[in-house]
Amino acid sequence: MGLIERIRDKARSCKKRIVLPEGDEPRTVEAAKIIANEGLAEPILIGSGFVRSKAGEYAEALFELRKAKGLTPEKAAELVTDPMYYGMMMVKSGDADGLVSGAVHSTGDMLRPALQIIKTRPGMKLVSSSFLMECKSDAFGDNGLLVYADCVVNPCPSAEELAHIAVAAADTARTLCGIAEPRVAMLSFSTKGSAEHDLVKKVREATAIAHGLAPNLVLDGELQFDAATVPEVGAVKAKGSPVAGRANVLIFPDLQAGNICYKITQRIGGADCFAVLQGLAKPCNDLSRGCSVEDIVNTVAITAVQAQGQA
Ligand code: ACO
Repeated sequence: MGLIERIRDKARSCKKRIVLPEGDEPRTVEAAKIIANEGLAEPILIGSGFVRSKAGEYAEALFELRKAKGLTPEKAAELVTDPMYYGMMMVKSGDADGLVSGAVHSTGDMLRPALQIIKTRPGMKLVSSSFLMECKSDAFGDNGLLVYADCVVNPCPSAEELAHIAVAAADTARTLCGIAEPRVAMLSFSTKGSAEHDLVKKVREATAIAHGLAPNLVLDGELQFDAATVPEVGAVKAKGSPVAGRANVLIFPDLQAGNICYKITQRIGGADCFAVLQGLAKPCNDLSRGCSVEDIVNTVAITAVQAQGQA
């Protein structure tokens, strides 16, 4: 059984309420029917006909949340008429378990309210993303399954932020992909001192910080992509490394590298890929504006499983 079938099965086992704030968008409407029919979740479509019965209550709560940032009661009342903000407030207040959007909105338009309203989970320093990559060849990762991070959120992470991304991605690998032993590679253009540059130093520093954050996590760096994933190359370039040649979680040094590499793996490598946001207090996930109905269904299933983990 493939990854997404396993996730769909898990979503069915305990139905969660997932908000779809782009409720008038045709692919979203179609996806909601499939989600309901297949029992993957209870979809809540916020479209033009949706009655915003709790608008007053949510406006007050939103004002309280953001008044220190200069939000006025009038602006809060206006914002909750926007389906994205209303949906976020439903999740924040426990009237829904998660949210999926992005068929119409850009990533930034969905991320900003999520960061401002839902915020980070206790103990989490920042929100980031993982891409679950199911490769054509089972020679890589865990029988072809790899986790890439961060490919969506943090344009230019510091060493400390990179370390937090690594720990969060390992957790996603474990909880969402069922990878029993995440083996995390901190990627660079250098392997174990083969090159010297400030960019390499940052990855080395991130590796040290990550060891401190999660001493039992199997994690190593800095490693080039081939040293991390190809056993023969790992054995030569990073002899004795617990990760080299067998990494299943790949941490990219910045968003340009992560975003470009997941798209290369998908388009040239033919991998199936599924995006998840990690570190939010409640699960919210983003879609590509080019998404299919199936992509929306799958993302809702993933969000529902994340919500089960937080129940
Ligand atoms: N984790 C937690 N909180 C964060 C994070 C983070 N990674 N980033 C920002 N925040 C918080 C800030 O602290 C701030 O909180 P506050 O208002 O309570 O003080 C709030 O979010 C807004 O922060 P800003 O700095 O004003 O937001 P910014 O304008 O930088 O936007 C965003 C943040 C949207 C994440 C931005 O970094 C971004 O656009 N990232 C790239 C998104 C993107 O386009 N990805 C690529 C395409 S996706 C794809 O191809 C699949």
